[in-house]
Amino acid sequence: MISSFFTSFYKKILPIYQQSPEEGMYFCVLPFTGERKPEVWCYCIGLIFNHHKTSQMNITDLKGTVSLANGVQMPYFGLGVFKTKDGQEVIDSVTYALDAGYRHIDTAAIYGNEEGVGIAIEKNATDRKDIFLTTKVWNADQGYDSTLKAFDSSLAKLKTDYLDLYLVHWPVKGKYKETWRALEQLYADGRVKAIGVSNFLQHQLEDLFQTAKVIPMVDQLEFHPYLVQQPLLDFCQQHKIQYEAWSPLMQGKAFEVPLLKELAAKYKVSVAQLVLRWDLQKGVVTIPKSIRRERVISNADIFHFNISEEDVQRISALDRGERVGPDPANFNF
Ligand SMILES: NC(=O)c1ccc[n+]([C@@H]2O[C@H](COP(=O)([O-])OP(=O)(O)OC[C@H]3O[C@@H](n4cnc5c(N)ncnc54)[C@H](OP(=O)(O)O)[C@@H]3O)[C@@H](O)[C@H]2O)c1
Repeated sequence: MISSFFTSFYKKILPIYQQSPEEGMYFCVLPFTGERKPEVWCYCIGLIFNHHKTSQMNITDLKGTVSLANGVQMPYFGLGVFKTKDGQEVIDSVTYALDAGYRHIDTAAIYGNEEGVGIAIEKNATDRKDIFLTTKVWNADQGYDSTLKAFDSSLAKLKTDYLDLYLVHWPVKGKYKETWRALEQLYADGRVKAIGVSNFLQHQLEDLFQTAKVIPMVDQLEFHPYLVQQPLLDFCQQHKIQYEAWSPLMQGKAFEVPLLKELAAKYKVSVAQLVLRWDLQKGVVTIPKSIRRERVISNADIFHFNISEEDVQRISALDRGERVGPDPANFNF
């Protein structure tokens, strides 16, 4: 009984120790100090529980950032451009976002719109160095040499000489370790400020750790109230891998969820604003997509309210493991 209490106690404190050695050390020694004051134990237990609840993010405004493991500052709110057409549509969408104060744009080679993203960034008054630009190597290009080539091709289309973040788009079996080696090379060469993965589940991350010299700084995954994957979120936090949400609005399905409608009314915000704020309060970077100016602007208007801890948990409890996109454990493209 006592030993199982201490086992579960240490399981709880381990993540705290990894993130904050000072707090973790305090909890490690507490059982041996003969501490009897209930308020000290309450404080300790409160911190243990709050550790999982409280975002590590200091949420300020649209330009606010989170520190990646290597110290690079990643804006925690950005614009996604999946399914946004190349040409005028993507140029407009990125322009609305940059003009509204967004400083983070997420594209991918497979979206076929890197050229338009590049044009919008080049034409905008915002300095390139103030924009956090992400793209991803597509599955067909995985492997060492082909990834290096794909990187050059993306840079040319984006009309830039560096990336802020380059991601392995999907964990293609038998390929992703070599792809990762290429990303490590690009990072060592200073051509990309941070490297990461997308759609990697815990077992795929652990497999990558076997050969990786650099631990991915980001994992971009499907994340929304119907797909929380809390153990994966915890695992990423423990390893200082920033969790980033794709399809945060469930590609529109979020708007039909009754609890989200109820809470949006309570906070006098839209469902999109509620869900995107919830992402940040969960410590998750978010990149909603819209091609409409008014939505681009309103989606980012989430810095004037705070969701109570209880309501954050009610939203998280909607989780039912439901995906709007493919399952990274079982995909064939
Ligand atoms: N790594 C990956 O494998 C992966 C996979 C999917 C997505 N992503 C990234 O994540 C980004 C976001 O995900 P997503 O594009 O799949 O879906 P999403 O952001 O969850 O939803 C986008 C959809 O919601 C609509 N929408 C946006 N704001 C709205 C609002 N305020 N009110 C009503 N409707 C609204 C958009 O329509 P309108 O455009 O017409 O406004 C669009 O149909 C992508 O763009 C991409 O950058 C990555």
